[in-house]
Amino acid sequence: MKKKIVCLGLESTAHTFGAGIVDEKCNVLANEKSAFRTEKGGIKPSEAFDHHCKNAIGVIRGAFEKSGLSMKDIEVVAFSQGPGLGPCLRTSAVIARTLALAHNKPLVGVNHALAHIEMAKKKCSAKDPVVVYTSGGNTQILVLEEKRYRVLGETLDIGVGNLLDSFGRSLGLGFPAGPKIDEMYFESDNYVELPYSVKGMDLQFTGLLTSAEKKIGTVPEKDLSYSLMHTAFCMIAEVTERALAFTGKKEVLLTGGVACSKALQKVLGEMCEARKAKLLVCPPAYAVDNGAMIAWTGLIAFRAGKTTKISESKTIQRFRPDSVEIAWG
Ligand code: FE2
Repeated sequence: MKKKIVCLGLESTAHTFGAGIVDEKCNVLANEKSAFRTEKGGIKPSEAFDHHCKNAIGVIRGAFEKSGLSMKDIEVVAFSQGPGLGPCLRTSAVIARTLALAHNKPLVGVNHALAHIEMAKKKCSAKDPVVVYTSGGNTQILVLEEKRYRVLGETLDIGVGNLLDSFGRSLGLGFPAGPKIDEMYFESDNYVELPYSVKGMDLQFTGLLTSAEKKIGTVPEKDLSYSLMHTAFCMIAEVTERALAFTGKKEVLLTGGVACSKALQKVLGEMCEARKAKLLVCPPAYAVDNGAMIAWTGLIAFRAGKTTKISESKTIQRFRPDSVEIAWG
C-alpha cells in the first residue's frame, strides 16, 4: 500500500513561530504556535529571534503531542524560506534542516506568500480567484496564469498591516495594533480627508500614514482610525475591482493576517456584491502566519516532485511569489 504523505511545516518569517502537521487531504493534525508580542512599540527582529529560539522546541513538541505522531510518521519537512526578517527566518530553516538530516527526510523550502494563498484556496474551496494577500509586510493582488502567480498590483512601500500597526503605535497601542483599531472602524463614520494613493495597479501607504499621524490630537481617534482604514481598504478594493474586470474572474480570495479585519472584509464585500463576484475569506487560524500552511504547501510541492537540497536551502529575505513556478497547479 502506498504510504500516506504527512508533512511537518515550520514557520518563522516574522513574529510567529509555528509548527503544523498536515496530511494529503489537508486535514490539519496540529497547528501550534507562539507569537512574539510587545506591550508598546513595534517588532524588533533581534527580540523576535530570541523569542523563536526560546519557544521553537516547545512548539514543535506541542505539535507532535497534539497529533499523536512522531518524526517517524513524517514523510517530508517543510519550512518557510522567505520572504521575511533575516534572523527570524533562520530559526525554522536551521531546525528544519537538522530534522531532515537527522531523520533522513526530504526537505522543502516554501515561499511564505504562496503558502498563505494555497492554504486559503484549499480551506475556502476557491477555484480560480483574484487573490488579495494582505499582511504586515505584504500587500499584493495576484492571479494564477500559466503556472505562476502573477502580481497584478502591490504596495510600493509598506504592507497594509504595517500601516495599521504603525498608526496604532502612534496612538500608544502595543503590537499588533491592527485588531484594536479594526474595532474602531465600526465606531465612527466621520470621514476625515486623507491622501488616497493608487498608482496604476499599485498602492502607496506611507503618505497616508504620515498625514494621519499629523492629525493625532486634532480630531477624535476613532474618526481618524476609521478614515485611515477606509482610505487604505478602498484603495485595495479599487485595484482588486480592476483586477476582476481585467481578468473576468468571479472570485476574490482574501488571505494574510489582515484578512481577519472585519473592516477590510466589509469594504471588499461591498465591492464584490456590486460586481457579482464572490468574496472568500480565509479562516483566521490559517490567515495569520501558521505552520499548517507551510506544511500544506510543502506537501503539494513534494507531491509534484519538488524538494530542496540542503545546499539550496538558504533563506531568502526578498522572495517574490512570482519567482516560483507552480509545479502543483
Ligand atoms: Fe504572513
